[in-house]
Amino acid sequence: MKIVWLTVSMIFVLAFVLVGVAHNAMPASIDAHETADDSSALFAKHCADCHGKDGRAKGFKAKAKGTRNLTDPQWQDRVSDERIFNAINNGKGRMPAFGKKLSETQVNSLVQYVRGLKR
Ligand code: HEC
Repeated sequence: MKIVWLTVSMIFVLAFVLVGVAHNAMPASIDAHETADDSSALFAKHCADCHGKDGRAKGFKAKAKGTRNLTDPQWQDRVSDERIFNAINNGKGRMPAFGKKLSETQVNSLVQYVRGLKR
């Protein structure tokens, strides 16, 4: 009887350890999959605070910082992809640089995302 009890508790301990390992492994695998497809998630995480979720820079913070409205079609027609890339990568005025935080692929996907904001 003692042996059976021991086996049952061992199984429980093992199950908990396995669940714990799987849980810890989750964030790492999400990071690894943060690719171009996640540009809207990247924008929400790194850019929306200043530019607004829809890029219109309407919030209080956006006004205070003089943030650009990324949906402005006249501005969109005027700027090159390269300029948008450089603004994100190197920063501009009061906008911080993201070159060290984001990979080139991620910056490129954000350039495409910004293009998609045009209204
Ligand atoms: C701390 C606030 C802040 C954050 C965060 C921020 N920006 Fe900006 N952004 C600004 C400001 C301010 C400007 C206007 C800079 C200027 O023209 O002097 C700007 C300008 C821009 C421009 C226009 C650059 C140009 O050449 O006209 C683009 C494109 C842009 N941001 C994209 C992004 C993207 C994409 C992110 C996220 C990776 C981001 N921004 C994060 C504040 C921010």
